Amino acid sequence: MRNLLALFLMVFAATSPSWAVSGQKVFETYCWGCHHQTAMAFGPPFAQIASQRDAATIRAMISDPESVSRTLGYRRNAMPKLPLREEELQAITAYILSYKPQTAESNTPKAVK
Ligand code: HEC
Repeated sequence: MRNLLALFLMVFAATSPSWAVSGQKVFETYCWGCHHQTAMAFGPPFAQIASQRDAATIRAMISDPESVSRTLGYRRNAMPKLPLREEELQAITAYILSYKPQTAESNTPKAVK
């Protein structure tokens, strides 16, 4: 019964514009303290992430930073697991990818420290 209700709410949220989740809002609520769109902060900038990772990797990292950061080459994980709903996860993933640099030259991955 609770699953049905959750499903209904998800479908409702997805089809109702007034409930639409914006990636910008998710960013300001959960990520802004540690990430900036284009400048290095405590965590890497979204533009850099977007030029190096695909949507699946970005989603995986946000969903489970502790284990996925290791597969991305980080020795220690400093990003917390955040309580995002599915539609927030989708919105923030698209938001990050919207910062992907457009030119072929800037698409070349930069070295991660
Ligand atoms: C408390 C600080 C903090 C918060 C809040 C935070 N991050 Fe991070 N994030 C980091 C750090 C530091 C890293 C570098 C890897 C690590 O430490 O695990 C990182 C790494 C990442 C990566 C992978 C970087 C790569 O190399 O591809 C993604 C994607 C990411 N963050 C997205 C987000 C999103 C989206 C949010 C908000 C929903 C968020 N982060 C909130 C600190 C944070």
